[in-house]
Amino acid sequence: MESFVHLRKGTTPRRLHADLDGLKDDELGRGGFVGRTANMYRRNDPTAYRSVGPLRPVDVLSSELKPSDATDAHGGPMLMFSNADCQVLLSRRSEPMPFFVRYVDGDLLSFVHEGSGLLETEFGPLRYRTGDWVYIPKACTWRQIPSSPSTWLMVQATDEFRVPPPGTLGRHFPFDPSQTEIPDPQPIDDGDGPLVDGEYEVRLIHDGGPTSLFYQHHPLDVEGWRGDNFAFTFNIEDYNVVTSDSVHLPPTVHLFMEATGVYVMNFLPKPAESRPGTERTPWYHRNVDFDEIAFFHSGSLYGIPMPPGLVSHAPQGVHHGAPEKARERARRKFGEYDRVDWSVIAVDTRRRLIPSPELLANDLGQHQ
Ligand SMILES: [Fe+2]
Repeated sequence: MESFVHLRKGTTPRRLHADLDGLKDDELGRGGFVGRTANMYRRNDPTAYRSVGPLRPVDVLSSELKPSDATDAHGGPMLMFSNADCQVLLSRRSEPMPFFVRYVDGDLLSFVHEGSGLLETEFGPLRYRTGDWVYIPKACTWRQIPSSPSTWLMVQATDEFRVPPPGTLGRHFPFDPSQTEIPDPQPIDDGDGPLVDGEYEVRLIHDGGPTSLFYQHHPLDVEGWRGDNFAFTFNIEDYNVVTSDSVHLPPTVHLFMEATGVYVMNFLPKPAESRPGTERTPWYHRNVDFDEIAFFHSGSLYGIPMPPGLVSHAPQGVHHGAPEKARERARRKFGEYDRVDWSVIAVDTRRRLIPSPELLANDLGQHQ
């Protein structure tokens, strides 16, 4: 049970996540590192296993995935993972949508890995660029017009995405709301845009769908709007990274937005922990209560390049973490680096994620 007293049994370093002296730091923690926890100091790398059966980490290069929108303007994103709370999709659109779209099963939060362009929305035009988060409320009508080929990591949550409740850091954490880009209304005249045989198509994306609605007037005809349910973008350059000099902080301090069972985090460039003996690499863990997807946007792991666009899925109950040789390298080169330059987007889910057959077909097979 939870206790004011935390036990120590056997050989344990005095400091948390530091001074391991050859042992491997493995955390068995509930609630995504914020609940009851045990830090186990092991002799061997717990990720050194061979997996037989469906539970194993999966790694995929998103540049190798072929969503139909990559080659066909009429196409759509590719489903990568799903559960009852969310779908995680990949879009690689380069041509303007010849239709409008409406995700009617949930809020849409998308990360722009590559590309820029324009979104026409009911709230008005919204430009996007690399590094943007794009939030589109459930059932909002919109259309994407890329200026350059655009790769989006998309998360559709069944429940609403919200900013986490303000904690001890106040309302400007995780981000300053005044730094979001919010569209101004701009109704579009009938006759403009993707008119086909005198009609505009609004494609409803839903379980069992799609369904298309056809309008003879332009669907983006909003003269004005008011309220607190609107589309916006927020660029990760403006995200405030919380750091510590003496301990690698748990991922929850990087929480950006959340929906029921879905937690989205930004792991962004920051000063490296500088107190000698501090482990700069996240400790081993087995994702006790959350499936985890890491999307490598850019940067390196202390000089070891990480492939941009790599999608890595770590299921609940299976150990994962940077390989031991990367940890040894980080310790050896402690004095050479004073910053972390990675940008990684993480999507953690309470329920188990099911990888799609298309995704599994592209598994790099690093854990088979
Ligand atoms: Fe993890």
